[in-house]
Amino acid sequence: MTKRLFIETVGCQMNVLDSEMVVADLRKRGYELARGLDEADVILFNTCSVREQAENKTYSALGRLRSFKREHPEKIIGVMGCMAQKDQKLVFDRAPYVDLVVGPGQLARIPDLIEQVAAGTGPQMAVSLGRRDGSVQEIKRSHETFDPLRDPTMRPTPFQAYLRIQIGCDKFCTYCIVPMTRGPEQGRDPEQILAEARVLADQGCKEITLIGQTVNSYKFTSGGRTTRLADLLYSLSDIDGIERLKFVTNYPKDMTDDLLAAVRDLPKCSPYLHVPAQSGSNTVLARMKRGYTIEDYREMFGRIRATLPEAAVTSDFIVGFPGETEEDFRLTYDLVAECRFKNSFIFKYSERPGTRGAELYPDDIPYEVKNRRNNELLELQNRISEQDSQRFLGQRVEVLVEGASERAKRTGADEGELIQLTGRTPDDRIVVFDGQPRLVGQIIPVAIYDVSPHTLFGAVVTQEVTMAALAAIG
Ligand code: SAH
Ligand code: SF4
Ligand code: F3S
Repeated sequence: MTKRLFIETVGCQMNVLDSEMVVADLRKRGYELARGLDEADVILFNTCSVREQAENKTYSALGRLRSFKREHPEKIIGVMGCMAQKDQKLVFDRAPYVDLVVGPGQLARIPDLIEQVAAGTGPQMAVSLGRRDGSVQEIKRSHETFDPLRDPTMRPTPFQAYLRIQIGCDKFCTYCIVPMTRGPEQGRDPEQILAEARVLADQGCKEITLIGQTVNSYKFTSGGRTTRLADLLYSLSDIDGIERLKFVTNYPKDMTDDLLAAVRDLPKCSPYLHVPAQSGSNTVLARMKRGYTIEDYREMFGRIRATLPEAAVTSDFIVGFPGETEEDFRLTYDLVAECRFKNSFIFKYSERPGTRGAELYPDDIPYEVKNRRNNELLELQNRISEQDSQRFLGQRVEVLVEGASERAKRTGADEGELIQLTGRTPDDRIVVFDGQPRLVGQIIPVAIYDVSPHTLFGAVVTQEVTMAALAAIG
């Protein structure tokens, strides 16, 4: 009999990919996806610990299942991902009806653990070793990589996929929990990466986004030969069917010239670089232990602009880090104004137990101050994003069509009707336009006639439009 799985995913691209892998793995054991909790036999939460709010949301969602589980004791509830690794037994303490706690390094064990719980063993937990609980090799081994099991139905779209090239992180920024939940940095074997990319291409995938916490620090050494991200991009570019390559997230200090040159020289590489600065103040950067000064960041930014003048550069910022003064914040504000990022993700500092930051620095910036700084920076970034979008007015962009827009999904469409579609440019800009549903999955030219800070609006460039434009020019 088919069993049904309901899975809810929060957090970053790592979690989106992990969920895809777990679903693919469970499908092999006869599972299908459930549309809702009621028809599910197994309910999995793939969780994030990066900010307290993300954890609170998961615990609230679990709280809402308390009476549900009482009514349906046969349903298996599992918590996987970063919060499972960080909180471990605490998950059972806070939600005693949870059956399964599985860290991100142990996902391959989920199918067996579900079977054990179903057979009546009681709650099961599988987590990786803590960062002080063994030799580096032992800890690394306990954060296993998953086999390339890919499931196109679980992706944001079937023709776009994430591909992990690096597990874990060794940077230990003082605010960040990721090195604890994802373990030591490990580059994956390039042979595995290329094999997985070929599988994706065979499944009809056109765009691959390579992921890692500091993806440009990627390194793999074997038989005296070291492979870096630029080498991977060259090899991946040779795969037929793959038309676009992106990679996130970049660490400012590891942005080498050979990588920038690869992005410039390889037509399949998207001119899009996410390189979080986190703060514009050297005192804050030092307390964050980011490993660079703002002068280093500027130098790196200058090299990006020199090699890739048109590239879209995006950043992350944390406001209200312990001890952040108005002057520190102003320096961050000035950096955003100077670099004119295409977009910035701005976060209010959230103290994470288990990090050096939580040990060393009291979370002393009041919530109102964090909130005000957040809003001020957001407002500046939105203004910049809008101005930046303006230059696309009247331009033609290449769009990979992702599917119906949110509006079109709500309203639906009749057979043969044009619908509102959405897609992305190579530099990761969202484009909305009307078109035939059959365009989904294709890369097509779109002429832009209107813009908002984060969206370009356009019309599909057909031969008639081109002819009309040529006629107008005379
Ligand atoms: N590996 C990536 C980012 C991982 S987390 C990098 O190094 O850039 C994504 C973003 O969340 C970070 O860039 C940071 O801006 C934010 N973040 C991480 N820990 C946080 C915390 N404790 N409070 C608020 N924001 C945080
Ligand atoms: Fe966290 Fe810093 Fe590693 Fe990014 S580089 S995952 S912010 S510790
Ligand atoms: Fe969250 Fe883990 Fe990603 S903490 S941001 S899901 S690596």
